[in-house]
Amino acid sequence: MTRARHPAGQVADLARQVREHLGRVRESRWPGFDAPKPAAGTEPAPSHPSPPPGRRAAPRPAPPAAAPAAARPAAAPPGWDSLDDIAAAAATCTKCPLHATRTRAVPGEGNPRARLMFVGEAPGADEDAQGRPFVGAAGKLLDRMIVAMGLAREEVFIANVLKCRPPGNRDPQPPEAAACLPYLRAQIALIRPEVICALGRHAAHALLGTQEALGRLRARFHDFGGTPLLVTYHPSYLLRTPADKTKAWKDLQIVMKRLGLSAPVQNPDPDVWGPR
Ligand code: URA
Repeated sequence: MTRARHPAGQVADLARQVREHLGRVRESRWPGFDAPKPAAGTEPAPSHPSPPPGRRAAPRPAPPAAAPAAARPAAAPPGWDSLDDIAAAAATCTKCPLHATRTRAVPGEGNPRARLMFVGEAPGADEDAQGRPFVGAAGKLLDRMIVAMGLAREEVFIANVLKCRPPGNRDPQPPEAAACLPYLRAQIALIRPEVICALGRHAAHALLGTQEALGRLRARFHDFGGTPLLVTYHPSYLLRTPADKTKAWKDLQIVMKRLGLSAPVQNPDPDVWGPR
């Protein structure tokens, strides 16, 4: 059933349609064209910040050929017209037992028009307390990985397979992932990123429906409903196993190449990636 929209919601919808139209024009005809900023009051919600001023993401290349209908990411269900709708639904979700032990749901955050989306496993203690993804030690490393790619955290979108913390940071259970995946699928359908980067085996397995070892999944693109998906190591694993940072950096360079981001010639941050 279609919900009656509040006038402010209609204005926001209109602004979104204009932005999407300008984006399509830019993609199809003028690679250097930058869509004008939306009028004051029609900005996306502050929980999804725009890229920092003065920074412009590389233009989107031509969209890939349409994927077969069955392989496309599911459209957001009726009533989920925006990332805020999805966040609100996740905040009151009781579809799995994790709702009983969460402090706050962690829907995800970032640029609603991100070209690149990172998907982790599940919130940890810091994320559960703050309601924001990747804000603990692993998040600090992820931030530096993003900067090493020449991007800012605000330019990408960061989410998890699970929106609620598993007690004691235990592994996600398959029924929990199955119950939670519609939120992530809806986020992907709204954001339409050019590339998804799955962090760690739990994200990879949930998104790709495989049980293959991470070492066999990484360093190449898979297809997630028509969107290229690359698997790399989870930042928590890299904190425990710094020797594999070099491989993670190679993975991120594959993503950068796909997005047309220029790769630094040198290892950009030896503190993050270790000496070459
Ligand atoms: N690990 C994750 O997978 N996600 C977070 O948000 C934090 C740590």
